Amino acid sequence: MEISAIQNEIKNWKSKLDKEISTSWRSPSNIALLKYWGKRQGQLPLNPSLSFSLSEAHTTTKLTAVPDAINAGISSLNKDIYHPFLNKIHPYWQYVINEIPLLQHYSIAIETENTFPHSAGIASSASGFSALATALLDLAQMLSGNKLAKEDFYKNASSLARMGSGSACRSVYGGFTLWGKSSEWPGSSDLYAIDINAMIHPSFRQLHDAILLVSAKEKSLSSSHGHSLMNEHPFAAGRLLQANNHLELFRKALAEGDLELLSQISENEALSLHALIMSSKGGSILLEPSSLVLIQRIRAARQKGLAVFFTIDAGPNIHMIYPESEKEKLAAFIHDELSDICQENKVIFDFCGKGAVKMNENV
Ligand code: PMV
Repeated sequence: MEISAIQNEIKNWKSKLDKEISTSWRSPSNIALLKYWGKRQGQLPLNPSLSFSLSEAHTTTKLTAVPDAINAGISSLNKDIYHPFLNKIHPYWQYVINEIPLLQHYSIAIETENTFPHSAGIASSASGFSALATALLDLAQMLSGNKLAKEDFYKNASSLARMGSGSACRSVYGGFTLWGKSSEWPGSSDLYAIDINAMIHPSFRQLHDAILLVSAKEKSLSSSHGHSLMNEHPFAAGRLLQANNHLELFRKALAEGDLELLSQISENEALSLHALIMSSKGGSILLEPSSLVLIQRIRAARQKGLAVFFTIDAGPNIHMIYPESEKEKLAAFIHDELSDICQENKVIFDFCGKGAVKMNENV
């Protein structure tokens, strides 16, 4: 190649890099106390759900966009242009450019990392899609020069995250959030989650979640298949009634700081989720014998006066929830009675935390 051609090439690259725009967002995972299970067309929930965002378990996602009409779309994931997840993200990308047409003129590289292993029993899709959605929306703001008001930004980001993974819409906010329309909750919506921290009793604002690892094996039932089984579930109507009744009880327990009531309905939710899974077509059993031993021990400890309860997602791991005030007693309980049952004695400690935040204000 001649010197002038090389100079031209460098100039091209330089002008390309000059127009490069990056943004990086961090978002937490969340743990639901009132479970989302089953969905309608358009990734809309069959019933309302309620969760709190975690702190230690989060995803950080950096997006770098370059104007490129020919190679527009998601160009790579963690610098891998053949990453298997790129195929999965394709339908999501189609939705994104439908909502934000401006992005269809850019080639976007994704770099992403989680603070927790895929197999930790923590929903990585929730933090992953929440981080991706907030970063995409921010990128669109930077490229267009139109900045949304904070409340609108989070509402739109929640809706965008929902299309990637339902529970992700709850992760954009910190603390407690509610997703799903309920006539009893003004402002609630099936399209996005809302921040409900204003009504939470101060004693519940710093709940802890110790994840007792029972098995790190790949889930035998994907959540999308699990949700679809609710469409012809014989108990679907009853479940809708139950979830709406529970929502009202959650509101009472959370507002009044009633740990006894919160424990009862949260555990009932977790066991109902598994009962629905077991009574679905195919009859999946996701709990392991050790899950049941842990549940019995947690209940026995509560009867002896320890302020603790459990919840479970669609897997065998047990999330043990307790208030900040109980932290020391719980550490001793886990050490003496629970960790020996966990896989490799593994317990992951987390607590209620912030929602999605921008990492690089100056980029
Ligand atoms: O967001 P999805 O499709 O992975 O579904 C999550 C379902 C549960 O974790 C079982 C319950 C919930 O509300 O998070």
